[in-house]
Amino acid sequence: MAEKVFIKDIGKYVGKEVLIEGWVRNYRSSGKIQFIILRDGTDEIQAVVFEPDVSDKIFKKCTQLTLESSVKVRGKVKADKRAPSGYEMDLTDIEILQIAAEYPIQKKAHGTSFLLNNRHLWVRSTKQNALLKIRHTVFYAICDYLNVNDFYRYDSPILTPNACEGTTTLFEVPYFNEGKAYLSQSGQLYAETGIMSLGRVYDFGPTFRAEKSKTRKHLTEFWMMDAEAAFVKHKENMKIQEKLIRYVIRKVIEKNEKELKILKRDITRLTKADAPFKIITYREAIEYLQQKGFEIKFDDDFSVEEEEAIAQDSDVPIFVEKWPIHIKAFYMKLDSENSELALCADLIAPEGFGEIIGSSEREDDYELLKERMEKDKMPMKEYQWYLDLRKYGSVPHSGFGLGFERFIGWISGTSHIRETIPFPRMINRIRP
Ligand code: 4AD
Ligand code: MG
Repeated sequence: MAEKVFIKDIGKYVGKEVLIEGWVRNYRSSGKIQFIILRDGTDEIQAVVFEPDVSDKIFKKCTQLTLESSVKVRGKVKADKRAPSGYEMDLTDIEILQIAAEYPIQKKAHGTSFLLNNRHLWVRSTKQNALLKIRHTVFYAICDYLNVNDFYRYDSPILTPNACEGTTTLFEVPYFNEGKAYLSQSGQLYAETGIMSLGRVYDFGPTFRAEKSKTRKHLTEFWMMDAEAAFVKHKENMKIQEKLIRYVIRKVIEKNEKELKILKRDITRLTKADAPFKIITYREAIEYLQQKGFEIKFDDDFSVEEEEAIAQDSDVPIFVEKWPIHIKAFYMKLDSENSELALCADLIAPEGFGEIIGSSEREDDYELLKERMEKDKMPMKEYQWYLDLRKYGSVPHSGFGLGFERFIGWISGTSHIRETIPFPRMINRIRP
C-alpha cells in the first residue's frame, strides 16, 4: 500500500509510490497527457497523467477535474529539476472526493472587495497560504522567546468594565445586571496583576478598538501580545523588546524562506534589521519630521504618514521615547528628569511600516497614579483593583504591547494590514 504523505516531505520518497490527499490547484490537458497541480496545505506538486501508463478509466476520471476539486492521488515520485519544488509525480490512481463547482476565483486579477467578500475561499490562495504560515511562525516564535526568558503566559479577560486605552474606541456589549461591559483594548492592566504573582507574564489574544479611521494600519479586531515584568525599568524594557523582535526575525527567515519568496519579500532588508535598534527622543523625532517638511509641532501625536516617515530610511527599527504625558496613557510613569514627559517608547518599524509596539514603565506610586486618574476624570471605583497593586507591595515595573498584525505586515512586507489576518474586521467589513 502506498504511504500517505504530505507534499512538503515528498523528497524523501523519490522512486516510491505515495498517496496524497488534497485539492486541485490547476489543471490542464493536451491530448494524451494531463497535468494536475495538487496542493495539500503544506506545499504543491504536479501530478502527470500519461495516457499509455494508466487505464482508460483513470485517464477519463482525471478529465473531469475542476479547480479546487478534492482528491486522493496515488503516484510515483520523481525528482525533476524544472519543477518549482524539485519533484513531480506520475499519477497511478485517483479517487475523486468531490468535483468542485465552478470556482469563483479564477486565474485573473480580481478587485479587492471581491476577494474580501470571498475571503472564505481566498484563504486558499498561494499568497494567503504563505502569509498564514508566517503568522504561525511569528506566533510561536514570540511564545518561545518569552517562555525561555521566564515570562509566564497569563490570560487577560476579553470582557472588562475598564478602558485601558481611552474611551473613544470602546466596543460596548450588554452585560446582564451590570448594564454594560467593554471588549478589551489591551490586556495590560490585568497583566500588571500577574507580575505580582509570577514576576514576568504575557498575554496573547484578540483585542478590539472601534477605530473610525480607514487606514492600511487599523483593524477593529486585532491580536496583541502584552508583556509585563516586575523590577524592569524603561531602558531594560526596550532591551527586552529588541531581543524579542530580533529573535522572531531570525526564526521567520529560518522557517519561512519559501513563503517570503512567494511574497517577494526582500530578505536582505530583514537581515539588516537584526542589528541594535536606534533610540531617539520624541523631541528629536519632531525635529526630524520638521526637517522633512511635515507641519508637526511639539505636543502633537504622529499622523500615519509621519509615523511611517520616522523610520522610512532606517535599516533597523527605531524607539521613539519620552513623549509628552498628555498625549499618552494615564498609567505611564513620569520621567524624573522632566515631569512633562512619560517614560515610554513606541517602536517604529523600518521601511515605513510604522508603530508595531507601544511600551512604558508604569506609574508605581499610589498617590501619583490616583491623582492622574482623578485629573482624567476616570471612574475611580472601577479602577480600585488597579490602584491596589500600588498599595500592596508596589514595585517598579514595565511592559509593552505588540500589535501582532502590524508586526506580521512588516516581516512579510505586506502593506495592508487586512492581508495579515484570516478574517479582517474593519470599519466597513464584518463579513464573512
Ligand atoms: O500602542 P497601544 O495602544 O498600546 C497599548 O495598548 C498598551 N496598553 C500596550 C501595553 O503596554 N501592554 O497598542 C499596542 C500596539 C500598537 O503599537 C500597534 O502595533 C497595535 O497595538 N495596534 C493596532 N493594530 C491594528 N489595528 C489597530 N487598530 C491597532 N491599534 C493598536
Ligand atoms: Mg501606541
